[in-house]
Amino acid sequence: MSVRTVAGAARRTAESAAGPGITVIGMDGRRLPAEARRALWTARTVAGAARHLDAVADLVPSGTELVKLGRLDPVLDRIAASSEPAAVLASGDPGFFGIVRALRERGLTPRVHPAVSSVAAAFARAGLPWDDAVVVSAHGRAESGRSAERALAAALAHPKAAVLTAPGGAGPEAFVGPLLRAGRTVYVAQRLETPEESVVEAGADDADRTDWAHPNVVLSVDPARAVAPSMAWMPGHQGAPDGWALPEDAFEHRASMVTKPEVRALALARLAPRPGTVVWDVGACSGSVAVECARFGAHAVAFEQSGEDCARIRANAREHGVHVDVRHGRLPEAFPGAPGDDGVPAPDAVFLGGGDDRVAAEALRRFRPARAVAALASVDRVGTVHALLCDAGYDVGGTQLQASRLAPLPNGSLRLAAANPVTLLWGTAAPDGSAASGP
Ligand SMILES: C[S@@+](CC[C@H](N)C(=O)[O-])C[C@H]1O[C@@H](n2cnc3c(N)ncnc32)[C@H](O)[C@@H]1O
Repeated sequence: MSVRTVAGAARRTAESAAGPGITVIGMDGRRLPAEARRALWTARTVAGAARHLDAVADLVPSGTELVKLGRLDPVLDRIAASSEPAAVLASGDPGFFGIVRALRERGLTPRVHPAVSSVAAAFARAGLPWDDAVVVSAHGRAESGRSAERALAAALAHPKAAVLTAPGGAGPEAFVGPLLRAGRTVYVAQRLETPEESVVEAGADDADRTDWAHPNVVLSVDPARAVAPSMAWMPGHQGAPDGWALPEDAFEHRASMVTKPEVRALALARLAPRPGTVVWDVGACSGSVAVECARFGAHAVAFEQSGEDCARIRANAREHGVHVDVRHGRLPEAFPGAPGDDGVPAPDAVFLGGGDDRVAAEALRRFRPARAVAALASVDRVGTVHALLCDAGYDVGGTQLQASRLAPLPNGSLRLAAANPVTLLWGTAAPDGSAASGP
């Protein structure tokens, strides 16, 4: 049959590219396929975590070199330099946030036998589909200190997320509390497919727990959107939303107190909202900027002193199917005490749409976002906010926007209807990071 011929040819091509070389074997507690067992039997070297090496002890002949994977680089470099057959054991699907990447970076084309990914197993335990989930990794360079924050921001911004955690600051203790406080249902799937497997739905008592068993995956589910209304065709965030810089009437607003679309377009460009970033909309009013940032996949926090406006922001977020964390209170007092306090993640970008210079100064000096944008109707404040941005060490730019929109005249021809001019100022952290800690 022609299908078999094509599959066979493709397989031979892959095998010749791999040479005698390296076989990567995914482990999920199930019996290994015959080909993976053969590769283990013929390998000169087998590398893997201690628990994986123990699991294959009966499948390797005596005399095989067994290497415990600690720091990855030296072992992989040695395997890459050797002409002897080797096998590498890894958890789940090694092509998914796994070791296949590191081997490819060394110019190797391994044969891969995937097992069930921990993410698939975790969603299976929760009995949920996951084609509509974003998967985020909290692994990363510890010195950047941003991997957990970035993963949390993306999880908060999406109805369904899986977080691949890491011990040492990026474990469930970094996620469970904030996700519960945002109203998410949270599952922690620990040591899946091992005899110690435990999958728990976290309750209030778990918010401050630190004794989770590794490895584990955290699932975050918005209970109102646990199952997407239609089947996803592409998992994860969809990139730019279908249309942005939405018209005023896409938002409920009070007496036209809404950032105009022409101004919002440039503000969004300068704020650069995207999955993994946190944007604060300061003096949010209708929340149009926060909502648009959330539509781009950012975690949006809206600070607003009017209770009525807070209700409107929530309604606007609901209408657009996004989550905005609305904080009611008078600024600057209502800002969190320090970045990360009160469950408000530190901002990557701040939009200063309301509040006075004292509010702007506090937001910039205390939270040092990598990007700041101010929309000013008052010409008096252009100089003072410009000075604030410069003093905080930003590269500063600005422009006055005066849009004239096409509008119909009674005789059927067109006129230009002028909107009020607004000055937009922006600051971006200098490349040396002297202004702010970037995303
Ligand atoms: C580098 S990623 C590897 C993912 C792997 N390739 C997969 O498909 O499952 C490591 C993360 O996967 C998750 N993980 C791996 N094995 C697991 C297990 N047995 N139980 C729960 N989570 C696991 C943890 O979040 C861990 O920090």
